[in-house]
Amino acid sequence: MIKFETMTENVVGGDVFDTRLEKEKSIASELQQCKMTEWLDLPEKMLLELPDLLSSAREIQKKADCLVCLGIGGSYLGGRAVFEALGGSSEIEVFFAGNSFSEVELNRILEKIGNRDFAVNVISKSGTTRETALAFRIFKKELIDKYGKDEGYKRIYATTDGAKGALHDEAEQNGYKTFIIPDGAGGRYSVLSAVGLLPLAVAGIDIEGLLKGALTEKKDLERDNKALSYAVVRNLLYEAGYKTEIFANFEPSWAYFNEWLKQLFGESEGKEGKGIFPAAVEYSTDLHSLGQYMQEGRRELFETFIEIPNLNNIKMTVPAIEGEDGLGDLEGMNISEINKIALEATEAAHFEGGVPVLRVLLPSWDAKGMGALIFFFEMSCALSALVLGVDPFNQPGVENYKSKMKDLLQRGSN
Ligand code: PA5
Repeated sequence: MIKFETMTENVVGGDVFDTRLEKEKSIASELQQCKMTEWLDLPEKMLLELPDLLSSAREIQKKADCLVCLGIGGSYLGGRAVFEALGGSSEIEVFFAGNSFSEVELNRILEKIGNRDFAVNVISKSGTTRETALAFRIFKKELIDKYGKDEGYKRIYATTDGAKGALHDEAEQNGYKTFIIPDGAGGRYSVLSAVGLLPLAVAGIDIEGLLKGALTEKKDLERDNKALSYAVVRNLLYEAGYKTEIFANFEPSWAYFNEWLKQLFGESEGKEGKGIFPAAVEYSTDLHSLGQYMQEGRRELFETFIEIPNLNNIKMTVPAIEGEDGLGDLEGMNISEINKIALEATEAAHFEGGVPVLRVLLPSWDAKGMGALIFFFEMSCALSALVLGVDPFNQPGVENYKSKMKDLLQRGSN
């Protein structure tokens, strides 16, 4: 379903790749032995849980004009990426908060909600993440002030651990409707659980399609593991001194998909003094800023293009117009055709400039296509981290700023 192609001859020859791929084949079965791999089974498992998710989504749609979705990192980015790329329904407005300590952001959301009815989906596996917990307190207070405790609590949907944690305990105590984040799926591998699925269903996005796309990709990878090929190429490039991977796409509404990729790879691989640094560009906008660096800057980066087909129902052509505006050569062409040519030109120019180019091609810009892409990247990332020799599923470094912040807050309050 997802296609993977490379233009890396400038650094990694075909024979070097074939030999290494053969050597790393056992990594796929090593993954099966790892803990924290429940995400591998989420597509099948969540298809069985669809009725409950969809009925809660309908309930939220009925009682609210807005949904405030609270979460950060893995409890946020995947859902947001799909939401932005597929677009939500106009029936309900979805806000994302709990992903910063910005008073301005919180205030803006509260102002935008105004007198409208709203519900909250708070998402946190640990239940102790401060950005999310703080925003939750603010919106919980709003709910209580607006609806009273009983009705306010009925408007809270908590997605969290099934057995422990501050949010789990609070939900039990106050009777919030809860959804479980599976124990064996870490935050950044959890988008296909209730973490991503509930808010997406509320937004009117086809979550069944998303899961079916992921399942098809899972089966496809069992036949032909392109995710392993990608993992191996990334590592060969890294070993050859290409330490930065730039994710690129040509669709502005996919900017959050880049953010999800940065988190997935950054948290999975950046440890023990190792790891490819994941960065991202949004073309063609960034061709007029970072494009210069990509073409002629330090030659230590490679570029992974996510190639997205156009949305089927959109056909916009360059109109005929009187007078000369320098666009005569484009007249009658589809805008998406021009976008595609810009992509091909960029890949060729950067390759010529000494940048190894990887291409991940999506079959369709819809829920199925995105589900497949998510599964492909999750699998690639886990395998790539194992090839690199680090644990794809922990994030010990994230704790450091949290404990420093705790110290500073305690000092401040003394
Ligand atoms: O991938 C991860 O594990 C992290 O990015 C977490 O998702 C993030 O730190 C939020 O954690 P929690 O869901 O416990 O609030």
